[in-house]
Amino acid sequence: MASTQVLIIGAGPSGLLLSLLLRREGFDVVVLERQTREYVESRIRAGLLEWDTVKLFEEAGVGARLRREGLEHDGVELAFDDRVLRIDLQSLAGRSMMVYGQTEIQKDLGDAAGDTVVWEAKDVAVSGFLEGKPQVSWNDARGAHRLEARYVIGCDGFHGIARASVPADRIRLYERVYPFGWLGLLSDTPPVNPELIYANHERGFALCSMRSATRSRYYVQCPLEDRVEDWPDSRFWDELRSRLPPAVAQRMVTGESIEKSIAPLRSFVAEPMRFGSLLLAGDAAHIVPPTGAKGLNLAASDVRLLHEALTAELKGQSGKLLEEYSTRALARVWKATRFSWWFTTLMHRFGDDPFGYRLQQSELDYLAGSEAAQRSFAENYVGLPFR
Ligand code: APR
Ligand code: PHB
Repeated sequence: MASTQVLIIGAGPSGLLLSLLLRREGFDVVVLERQTREYVESRIRAGLLEWDTVKLFEEAGVGARLRREGLEHDGVELAFDDRVLRIDLQSLAGRSMMVYGQTEIQKDLGDAAGDTVVWEAKDVAVSGFLEGKPQVSWNDARGAHRLEARYVIGCDGFHGIARASVPADRIRLYERVYPFGWLGLLSDTPPVNPELIYANHERGFALCSMRSATRSRYYVQCPLEDRVEDWPDSRFWDELRSRLPPAVAQRMVTGESIEKSIAPLRSFVAEPMRFGSLLLAGDAAHIVPPTGAKGLNLAASDVRLLHEALTAELKGQSGKLLEEYSTRALARVWKATRFSWWFTTLMHRFGDDPFGYRLQQSELDYLAGSEAAQRSFAENYVGLPFR
């Protein structure tokens, strides 16, 4: 049977980034992706990178356009009670963030990955990973295939087959589903503010973000039952403005939407992240609500740890990196899960809960008056350091 050193399931950011880093070491890598490249590249997702994530993309050889077109942000703003609190990320945590859409990242990764990826690989199935003899089978336009691998990496997202292939008694799942969604709108209008604004308002959460100097990305909290058809552009703009401080709302430039979608919010963690020769990374192992912008950054930090561990293992260097992968990755995952849950809880309306709302206002007021609290926010927002 044909074989490869590493077989990666899924060509999202996790799978492609890992494949590039491993190929640079000279290893044999195959990536299997269920969808077409066009489909994967058209998905609109978040776009805020931690500095360590930027550096990892550079290490993988895909940092040039990111450096050229990405927008560096030294601070972030929180709006509440018609006040705006600026958190200075540079002075408090010594690092900035980079605004660069995941859609662009996906294109850069796809260009660099070339023929490592089998697109439209159907019926992917994995077996033998608990016995140290992993095999993967799939069907594509050329027929049925089967491949042996030293390691199989599940980078196939929340709905993938890698995690689903693990026997139930070997895995523990933790989950929290939030009782609201985010309605996002993309438009070719100049961003309302040079920095991101996260707003806590009686009517619900709102976020002002961007993709470039001429393209904006905005979100409003909405009921889970809502449909995009319930939200014509005019209703979206009115609702967004009503949740922002008047001075910000007044300078909002509105325009036709290019894309509009509703996403539910959830926290999810699977433990462990290694099952013999099968390892999970990114959304396949954990989901965070988008409030802290940690999804893609956590995927990148898994990939960084996996790259180190697989490289040591495949080069025959002694060490325990692969044994420790799950523990090291999960330590970071849980800290980001905690931060995303905390920030989500601080900023959203949870039904009719006047007591909860007063607590949020009080915590935001505390944040505004305490440098220690701001520093804690900043160090989590820019991404905790690797130990
Ligand atoms: N066979 C092959 N490919 C699959 C299968 C399968 N059975 N199931 C899913 N996939 C593919 C999906 O089509 C998708 O392209 O796996 C890929 C998973 O990609 P993502 O969901 O993007 O997950 P990941 O690469 O871990 O990216 C991390 O960062 O911004 C966050 O949540 C956001 O996508 C994001 C993530
Ligand atoms: C986005 O730009 O899409 C974005 C930014 C910050 C977040 C979430 C989403 O926390």
